[in-house]
Amino acid sequence: MNSQQKKMTTFTNQQKYDLFAPEVLLDSYSLYRRMREEDPVHYCESLGYWILTRYDDVEAALRDERLSADRSALFINKLGNLDVNLIQNFIYVNSKMMMETDPPDHTRLRKLANQGFTTRAIESWRSIIQNVTDQLLDKVDNHSSMDIVSDLSVPLPALVIAEMFGVPESERANLIAWARDIGIFWGAPGSSNIEELARKADFATAQFYELMKQLIEERRSQPGTDMISLLTMAYEEQGFNLRELASQCNLILVAAQLTVQDQIPNGVNALLRHPEQMRKLQDNPALINSAVEEIIRFDTSAPFVLRIAKQDLTIGGKNIPTGSVIALGLGAANHDPAKFDSPSVFDITRSPNEHLGFGPGVHFCLGAILARMELTICLATLLRRLPNLRFDLDKQSIPRHTSLVFKGFDSLKVKF
Ligand code: HEM
Repeated sequence: MNSQQKKMTTFTNQQKYDLFAPEVLLDSYSLYRRMREEDPVHYCESLGYWILTRYDDVEAALRDERLSADRSALFINKLGNLDVNLIQNFIYVNSKMMMETDPPDHTRLRKLANQGFTTRAIESWRSIIQNVTDQLLDKVDNHSSMDIVSDLSVPLPALVIAEMFGVPESERANLIAWARDIGIFWGAPGSSNIEELARKADFATAQFYELMKQLIEERRSQPGTDMISLLTMAYEEQGFNLRELASQCNLILVAAQLTVQDQIPNGVNALLRHPEQMRKLQDNPALINSAVEEIIRFDTSAPFVLRIAKQDLTIGGKNIPTGSVIALGLGAANHDPAKFDSPSVFDITRSPNEHLGFGPGVHFCLGAILARMELTICLATLLRRLPNLRFDLDKQSIPRHTSLVFKGFDSLKVKF
C-alpha cells in the first residue's frame, strides 16, 4: 500500500469508527454495533490500539495469560517527547498497583489486598454508605433541583472511602481532587495539554502517597478496624513494604472513585429515559439488585480495559503483533446480541445477566461488592426520598467521554 492509499485508509477508518465523535458521546452503542458487525477485531490507526467488540473475544482476552496488564509503557508513551521524570511519582506508585501487574506478582498482591475486604469490614460499609447518602440528600432536601454529579455521585464514593480508610476531615476534599487528576491522565488517550495533565497526576500521586505514609505509620502503632489498619496488619505479617501498601491504597481510591462517580449518573440517566422501568422499580423496590446489574450492563462506567500482547497472537483471524495495545470493549460486549436477548432494551428484570462490567479473570473487580452496595443504597434511597425525580429540561446534561476507559457525565441536572 502506498503512502497516499495508507492515508486514505486511515482517514476512512477514522471517519468510520471515530470513538470520540460528538454523536458517539451521546450514543456509543450504535458505533460499537457497527464495529462488531463489520470489523469486530479492529485496528484503530488514530489510537494505535486493537479494539475488540464481541462478547466472546472480550471474555477470552480477559482470561488470556498471553496478555499483560502492565501498562507503564503506555503512560510513558503518552508523554511523547516530554521528560519521563515528569511522572516519576506516578510511575513509582502505579507500577506496584495490583491492577498493573501479572501473576505471580499479581496473585501475591491481590491476596494481601483481600485482607482489607473481610466479612466484618464489608458488614460495616452498609451503614457508612447509607449515612453518607442521607447526608448528601439532606443538603438538597429544601431545593427542588440538584446535580446528580456534583451533589451526589462525586462526593459519595470519596466520603465512603474516607470513612473506610479513616481519613481526617481536613483531607477529605483533597481525595476527590487527587482521584480526578490521576484519573484524567490515566484515561487520556494523549492530548495537546498532556504536560499539564501529567504534572497534575504526578503531584496528586505524591500528595496522596504522603497522606497514606502518615496514616499507615499511625495505624502501625495504633491499629483500628479501618481498611488501612487491616491492610497494614496483613503487610506486617508478610514483610512490611510501604511502597506496595500505599500503592494498593492509591489504586483502591482511584478505582472506587472514578467508576462509582460515573456509574450513578449513568444509572439515573437510564432510569429517567425509561420511565416505565423506573416506575416498576419504585413499585417493587426489591428489584434494586437486578436493576443495578442491568444499569452496569446497559451503560457501564468502565467501557474499555487495556492489555498489552506479550507475544504474537491471532484473534478473530487478525494477527496481532507482540507489544500491541488491545482495548477490550466491556461496554460493547455487554450489548452483543450473541450473548444478550434484545441488548439495547433496558430491562431491570433481565435474567440471566452475565455482563462483563467487573471484568472477569484474575483482575476481576476487587471492589464489586462495595460498588454494588453503593449503587443499590444510593439509587434506592434517591428514588424513595425523591419519588418525583425527573430531568431538568432547562439544564442540559453534559456527557463526558474524553477518555476511552471512563464514561459518565460532567453534569446531570434533575428536578424533584
Ligand atoms: C460500578 C463500579 C465499578 C466498576 C464498573 C468497576 C470495574 C472494574 C473493572 C472492569 C476492573 C478490571 C480492570 C482490568 O482488568 O484491567 C476492575 C478492577 C478493580 N476494581 Fe473495580 N469497578 C467498580 C468499582 C470499584 C470499587 C468501588 C472499588 C473499591 C475497592 C474497586 C476496586 C478495584 C480494584 C482494586 C481492581 C483491580 C483488581 C485487580 O487488579 O486484581 N472497583 N474494576
